Amino acid sequence: MPASKKIQDSIERASWIRKMFEEGSARKAKFGAENVFDFSLGNPNLEPPAKFDQALRELAQSSVPGLHAYMANSGLPETRQAVADYLGRQNRATFTVDDVVMTVGAGGGLNVVFKTILNPGEEVIIPGPYFVEYNFYLDNHQGVPRVVSTKPDFSLDFGAIADAMTEQTRAVLINSPNNPTGNVYDEKEITQLGELLVESSEKLGRTIYLISDEPYRRIIYDGITVASIFDAYQESFVVTSFSKDLSLPGERIGYAAVNPAMSDKEMICAGMVLCNRILGYVNAPAIMQRILPELLEESVDVSLYKKKRDLLCDGLASFGYEIKKPGGAFYLFPPTPIADDVAFVAALQEENILTVPGSGFGGPGHFRIAYCVEDRVIEKALPGFERVMKKYQG
Ligand SMILES: Cc1ncc(COP(=O)(O)O)c(C=O)c1O
Repeated sequence: MPASKKIQDSIERASWIRKMFEEGSARKAKFGAENVFDFSLGNPNLEPPAKFDQALRELAQSSVPGLHAYMANSGLPETRQAVADYLGRQNRATFTVDDVVMTVGAGGGLNVVFKTILNPGEEVIIPGPYFVEYNFYLDNHQGVPRVVSTKPDFSLDFGAIADAMTEQTRAVLINSPNNPTGNVYDEKEITQLGELLVESSEKLGRTIYLISDEPYRRIIYDGITVASIFDAYQESFVVTSFSKDLSLPGERIGYAAVNPAMSDKEMICAGMVLCNRILGYVNAPAIMQRILPELLEESVDVSLYKKKRDLLCDGLASFGYEIKKPGGAFYLFPPTPIADDVAFVAALQEENILTVPGSGFGGPGHFRIAYCVEDRVIEKALPGFERVMKKYQG
């Protein structure tokens, strides 16, 4: 057996992504890449801000000794200090260098946090629809996902979260702005979630952590703000990256931060630093850490994503799709006009429009459109979206 049984099963479970990718590649080969409208991946189409290129160029021309050397597993102190200062500006608490560990993207950060806190078989409650890689990340550390539904508008269902709490619950994992829905939880929800976690921790006699996965925090529209989970709950982690807001997904740079008031913080942080090392990351990419302090307040031009969102939402709504403009990220997650979301996505494929069935995110009866693509891709795809809708309208 070439791969372990478990990995063979995982390959099988993840196969719809591969199938979509293969179908997309086949269509691009047959019809030409410009005639295939690929909304299947959350790979930002915008280039990083000019300031990033500038900082990279300056660093390359400098002669910093040991630029490429190993460093502390937590990251460069000056980078962590800059992140701590940034977090201090964004939240009520004051952060120190010890509250921040630089990570290999948000994916690396989540693995570090899960490995640090999970005992085998412990559960993490995840409001769905959700980013499915969480299942694999949890499985890496013998954690168990407990997916709970959100309300039809994708807001948190506190009854469902409370009902999912067991003796084995270790954490609740949220993601706002959300992949795949684009939904942003409002401040009232985050406050209420904090209150529920205080109550549940008391009732169960153990700390239930809140982990907030926030790579889309700065991609928000219409004056919406993303509430601080640090202000709402003491036993909390923020995990994030610069993959989306600075368009640097290939550079694998992010961080995990703990609430400065977290109980047993020293042990948790020591655990995170060790886990960063023994997961084989060792430390987050050095060059990115060097230039990050200059870029913490920067992001891509979010108004360009807003334009794409509006173009797509207005077009789809005019064809009869049920559309509510999401407040953040670069995804739409509309209901499919037929119950079978896989069949609906297949019908779109016939129009060379590649999207992802909601079932792949624990949200059947929906489909995900990642609109981080060129405007002309949206413009050229709209007639196909209209034809498919007409087909089902009869
Ligand atoms: C919700 C969510 N969390 C985490 C990640 C992983 O991000 P990174 O590339 O920073 O590891 C992604 C990437 O698409 C995401 O959508």
